[in-house]
Amino acid sequence: MDADAWNARYATRDFVWSVEPNVFVERHCRELEPGDAIDLAAGECRNAVWLAGRGWRVTAVDFSSVALDKGRRLAEQAGVEVTTVEADVRTWEPDGAVDLVVVAYLQLPTTERLAVLGRLPGWLRPGGTLVLVAHDRTNIEHGWGGPPDPDVCYELDETVAALTGLDVQVAEVAERSVATPDGERIALDTLVVAHRPT
Ligand SMILES: C[S@@+](CC[C@H](N)C(=O)[O-])C[C@H]1O[C@@H](n2cnc3c(N)ncnc32)[C@H](O)[C@@H]1O
Repeated sequence: MDADAWNARYATRDFVWSVEPNVFVERHCRELEPGDAIDLAAGECRNAVWLAGRGWRVTAVDFSSVALDKGRRLAEQAGVEVTTVEADVRTWEPDGAVDLVVVAYLQLPTTERLAVLGRLPGWLRPGGTLVLVAHDRTNIEHGWGGPPDPDVCYELDETVAALTGLDVQVAEVAERSVATPDGERIALDTLVVAHRPT
């Protein structure tokens, strides 16, 4: 999907996703010492706003202006500051290295996705952390929600292999509970937490 398609999707409702942080982002970031962070493909900035509330200086990058408008509103409501950057993650580069990169549910075709993932280790300071969560390919058959196109879903080994030079602490297909009108459903996410060696 291009920026126009994402803008159209974000324009349809108030907040498309939850305004709460993703459960895995929360779990793996809450013990970290705040510093500089990037939320890549931040959407409506739920994770960026949560991080900012914990003292992080967050740059939220997305190519959807509509999503970032909502993100700025969410930040204002929460009384926190988030720097928003409207840019395409396939070409965007940060000004300098950071302590944390969060990537949640970025959907790109495999070739483009692996090219973006391959750049992430270089964005981290020594000791810095990457938290990546995404729709796993197995979710299509065995999980709930998420895109039906396997090309934009993640595969664990391929994802880890793209993160050259990082120490991988967590690499799993994680179950995420989703409340639906028909009761609880389980979504299957690729989850990787990795650190740049000091
Ligand atoms: C499923 S949403 C996830 C948003 C957010 N990370 C979250 O977890 O709530 C995917 C986001 O990726 C953004 N996105 C997709 N491709 C992108 C690209 N090439 N450059 C920048 N943003 C992109 C979309 O605009 C959308 O906001």
